[in-house]
Amino acid sequence: MTAPNLHGKVVLLTGCTGDIGVSYLHGLTAAGADVVAVDLADGTAAAAEATRKGPGSAVFRTCDITGDADVKSAVRLAVERFGGLDAVVNNAAVYRGLGRKRPLEELTLEEWDTVLRVNVRATWQVIRAALPALRQRGGGRIVNVASVVTRTGAAGFAHYVASKAAVEGLTRAAARELGRDGIGVNTVSPGLVDDEATRTINEAGYVAAAAAGRSLPRAMVPEDLVGVVLWLVGPDSGFVTGQTVVVDGGGVFV
Ligand SMILES: NC(=O)c1ccc[n+]([C@@H]2O[C@H](COP(=O)([O-])OP(=O)(O)OC[C@H]3O[C@@H](n4cnc5c(N)ncnc54)[C@H](O)[C@@H]3O)[C@@H](O)[C@H]2O)c1
Repeated sequence: MTAPNLHGKVVLLTGCTGDIGVSYLHGLTAAGADVVAVDLADGTAAAAEATRKGPGSAVFRTCDITGDADVKSAVRLAVERFGGLDAVVNNAAVYRGLGRKRPLEELTLEEWDTVLRVNVRATWQVIRAALPALRQRGGGRIVNVASVVTRTGAAGFAHYVASKAAVEGLTRAAARELGRDGIGVNTVSPGLVDDEATRTINEAGYVAAAAAGRSLPRAMVPEDLVGVVLWLVGPDSGFVTGQTVVVDGGGVFV
């Protein structure tokens, strides 16, 4: 894969400590971007490792994306440390934290509200906080992360499926509103990834069954997503906005 040249670009990446987030972090810095990487969990080591490999650099900041003060502080860090902000990758979500699958009538109000608050409301909060800095640069790119479950309707995670469908809707609304500012907004929609979070919340054999149902019949790894995210962040996708790009080895077609 030839990565786009992201030298001089500054990216805010949320959810940088999960297996997929770490892959995005390394892909972005390898392409030359400087990254403000945020998460609830400690990502100091991941950011240091990405910086060591270069050529871009990364700085970690603890951040709860449901808190406006935390999110604004992460945007401020991008401006102070790297001189501005060009792109946002909204990767953080409640996924590993979903716990075991349950029929929708067994989900609690608290669980429903938490998943929608983090996955949807906070994605909007991060976009809102980033806008002044993106506009300051004369435009930018926003990549939101949904999931192929919006097509497959995975049973047992009704709140999660609903939240990711809302992310796709938010992407389209934001694309309509922000295009005049030169800001492109798109969604990447991953299939089931064989990562630690997936193995934590799904039964044995689930990854193999998903792999068998694909046109390209193998397990998906975090690195399968990196090329599309870099493309959506980079200059070559400049006239693409409001779209959902499904990366799942041809399991579903949109
Ligand atoms: N793994 C998969 O199969 C799969 C498939 C489709 C979509 N996705 C999506 O890809 C993204 C990454 O998934 P993953 O497998 O690495 O999951 P993960 O659960 O390991 O990572 C999510 C990250 O978000 C962080 N996070 C959660 N709440 C937060 C908050 N309030 N503030 C800041 N950070 C918070 C977590 O600490 C974690 O590091 C998620 O959006 C997930 O929904 C994953």
